[in-house]
Amino acid sequence: MAILITGGSGYIGSHTAVELIQAGYEVIIVDNLSNSKPEVCNRIKEITGIKPKFYELNLLNEAGLNQLFDNEVIESVIHFAGYKAVGESVDKPLAYYENNVTSTINLCKVMQAHQVNKLIFSSSATVYGQDGISPLVETLPLSATNPYGNSKVIIENILKDLSASNPKWQITSLRYFNPIGAHQSGLIGEEPSGIPNNLLPFITQVAIGKMVKLAVFGNDYDTPDGTGVRDYIHVLDLAKGHIAALNQLEEQKGYDVFNLGTGKGCSVLDIISTFELVNQVSVPYMVVERRPGDIAACYADTHKAEQVLGWQALYTLEDMCRDSWNWQKKNPDGY
Ligand code: NAD
Ligand code: UFG
Repeated sequence: MAILITGGSGYIGSHTAVELIQAGYEVIIVDNLSNSKPEVCNRIKEITGIKPKFYELNLLNEAGLNQLFDNEVIESVIHFAGYKAVGESVDKPLAYYENNVTSTINLCKVMQAHQVNKLIFSSSATVYGQDGISPLVETLPLSATNPYGNSKVIIENILKDLSASNPKWQITSLRYFNPIGAHQSGLIGEEPSGIPNNLLPFITQVAIGKMVKLAVFGNDYDTPDGTGVRDYIHVLDLAKGHIAALNQLEEQKGYDVFNLGTGKGCSVLDIISTFELVNQVSVPYMVVERRPGDIAACYADTHKAEQVLGWQALYTLEDMCRDSWNWQKKNPDGY
């Protein structure tokens, strides 16, 4: 019996594949390589000694997905596949709704037809919208301010309705906060396409000389040093959270949702100074206007994941900064 990982050659999926293989699970990856490279599976093999079976397939191809489920004995699915760039989603809403929502519906239809009932879905802290006051707790109402975030809210609602329709379903949505870092081997990591939108990939590219300076988006927020505060979590902690959620699914009835974060807020300036200190490199920066759509602070209430999943994040900010830099140095041009 295997765990199917959709989007398994992507950033979070590949780290989760490594953790699952190392925990003794059989892993099958399905990915259309729209935002990842085939080399990822070789790297997973270099780390674990096992190359996961790989299907190059778009989840929008329902017939292809049916065939995959006919060929394999799948016990549960971890569903990472989707588009994730907030800005792009504003320009291409239909592509985002189709790729994220339609492909999830396809996946659930095929799972249902094959009596595969266990599903873990990659949601995001973005479903808390802009008005929530941190720490953000799972019971808050959901809202979104862009098509990407909206696609996550819609999918969460679909999964909740689906679970209510048949007690056989066991479905968990995991709301990730800000994943950063990489596997300590430096063999797998995050490979943003083009100019990075997110803070850590931008910092590593400044440190390696690909970008001249980091633009810090605003220092007049109501936070301790005026810069934006986020809950950065090591991607390996996040990966382990999926194993905890998978174990919990055995006992879980219906639908549930968990935050995966550290519960600690870090500012942009905290990240820059920690990165410079642990890696002994300099990250030149300048403060510019706030980025439209950004909020002052966003961090998780982690009690539910601790109590129900028995999981908590263990890596420090130092670990995250060191491992992000190690990945960048070893792979200056990506995979
Ligand atoms: P990623 O882009 O690295 O990985 C996603 C993978 O899915 C890619 O390999 C891509 O090729 C594949 N994919 C996309 N559409 C597909 C389709 N239709 N069929 C098959 N494969 C498809 O992204 P990631 O950072 O690993 O994120 C994984 C999931 O976690 C996404 O759903 C994302 O929205 C969610 N998430 C990410 C973050 C973050 O900051 N990275 C935060 C919160 C939530
Ligand atoms: N920032 C900068 N300069 C940059 C990039 C970011 O100052 O070049 C700041 C932002 O203003 C923010 C912080 O760094 O204060 C983090 O920004 P990111 O873009 O790295 O992350 P966000 O919190 O904005 O968003 C990310 C994902 C979303 C997801 C959210 C919560 O991009 O998709 O985390 O999981 F919804």
